[in-house]
Amino acid sequence: MAKHVVFLMSIGVLTAGLLLSTGCGNNSADPDVVSARDLKLIEEGREYYLMHGCAVCHGKEGRGDGLTAERFYPRPINLHDPNAYLQGNTAPAIRQSIKNGIRRQGSAMPKYDHLPTNELNAIAKYLESLQKSDQSKESSP
Ligand code: HEC
Repeated sequence: MAKHVVFLMSIGVLTAGLLLSTGCGNNSADPDVVSARDLKLIEEGREYYLMHGCAVCHGKEGRGDGLTAERFYPRPINLHDPNAYLQGNTAPAIRQSIKNGIRRQGSAMPKYDHLPTNELNAIAKYLESLQKSDQSKESSP
């Protein structure tokens, strides 16, 4: 009986410890945890991506296979491939690439400096999530 009580107590201590360690609102430390706010941003980003015609070159799902993709050299990149982003693949770097375009000669990537910051942010977040979506597919059997 006494053992039983000790057991229950240690469960209580463990639970309290768990609550303390996860209850600090610090979920952002884990890169795989997507907050509800981010999910909304990603969904908005997908809509802006389609609305602003990125898909004509990069494809509806961003795989670099849009209707006009064949016409360009260098080709529109596969946005799921983290290594294809020559100017950086994090949300802030992507936002700059979209805003300023690619200035190298012969590059077809236009600049979108007329887009409001919130739209640029949402699209950048969406493209960041596309890179992660492929990684998780590859790691599962
Ligand atoms: C006219 C075709 C075209 C359209 C429209 C277009 N892109 Fe691109 N994009 C390209 C091409 C081509 C490249 C590769 C260019 C290069 O490497 O010089 C590219 C590259 C990129 C890159 C990679 C930048 C890097 O780091 O190298 C990103 C990100 C990107 N595009 C996002 C977008 C988004 C978002 C939109 C819509 C808002 C868009 N693109 C619209 C043709 C296009």
